[in-house]
Amino acid sequence: MALVSAKDMLEKARAGKYAVGQFNINNLEWTKSILLTAQELNSPVILGVSEGAGKYMTGFKTVAAMVSAMIDELKITVPVALHLDHGTYEGCYKCIEAGFSSIMFDGSHFPIEENIAKTKELVEVCNKKGLSLEAEVGAIGGEEDGVVGKGECADPEECKKIADLGVTMLAAGIGNIHGKYPADWAGLSFETLAAVNEKVGEMPLVLHGGTGIPTDMIKKAISLGVAKINVNTECQLSFQEATRKYIEEGKDLVGKGFDPRKLLAPGCQAIRDTVKEKMEIFGSIGKA
Ligand code: 13P
Repeated sequence: MALVSAKDMLEKARAGKYAVGQFNINNLEWTKSILLTAQELNSPVILGVSEGAGKYMTGFKTVAAMVSAMIDELKITVPVALHLDHGTYEGCYKCIEAGFSSIMFDGSHFPIEENIAKTKELVEVCNKKGLSLEAEVGAIGGEEDGVVGKGECADPEECKKIADLGVTMLAAGIGNIHGKYPADWAGLSFETLAAVNEKVGEMPLVLHGGTGIPTDMIKKAISLGVAKINVNTECQLSFQEATRKYIEEGKDLVGKGFDPRKLLAPGCQAIRDTVKEKMEIFGSIGKA
């Protein structure tokens, strides 16, 4: 199956009261682990690529070619969207050209009028090419590729203005943070989410910072219109921990040369376990 826009899968998720996971990819092993898990669980999936990860993988064209070829070779039949995560204006155009099927334009740091103007332009381009487009209002907290946001709560009126431009999905800041949540985190602002949901009608909402949000909050967010949840740090942490354990135990490593297939296998399994756990909580299993 070729890459698909995220539009259909998210509209179905919103109507069916579950969420599709966006799992960020960093390399071939990461991508393969996520695709195989989605296929095994018959779940739609979104592969997120930050600009930093795109650069690391040598560029967006490499990423798009790798993902498309992998879908073909692994005979993946569940819907897969390849999505730019927190794209700059220039990054959006690079990914459109490279063959991504979905784009996030993160104009949240621009004054609202500029965010609107740039988002409007990208809506037209994406519509013509059949790509889905995510917009953001109210910065998500934490650090993403060196950019630190404060974790604002979005203004529901501004969300409506952006939603009315015809974007496919909207990420509204509701006190969520990328990376680990601090011990004194106030939790998600359901008051903000409910107000945004009321303003934007049936638009699928996106919850960033999916790592470490308690299950009951995830479920409540889904009940208030969240149809896409982004997870990155949790896969990184589980990969790191499994690899550390494997090296510490010294299995197959000493005096036997270096075999990346063996070294990376426990981390890949850990990513698969994390993705499965998240898909169970999000309710997307069997929804492909
Ligand atoms: P986490 O790293 O907190 O899982 O957030 C991922 C994310 O929102 C990517 O956009």
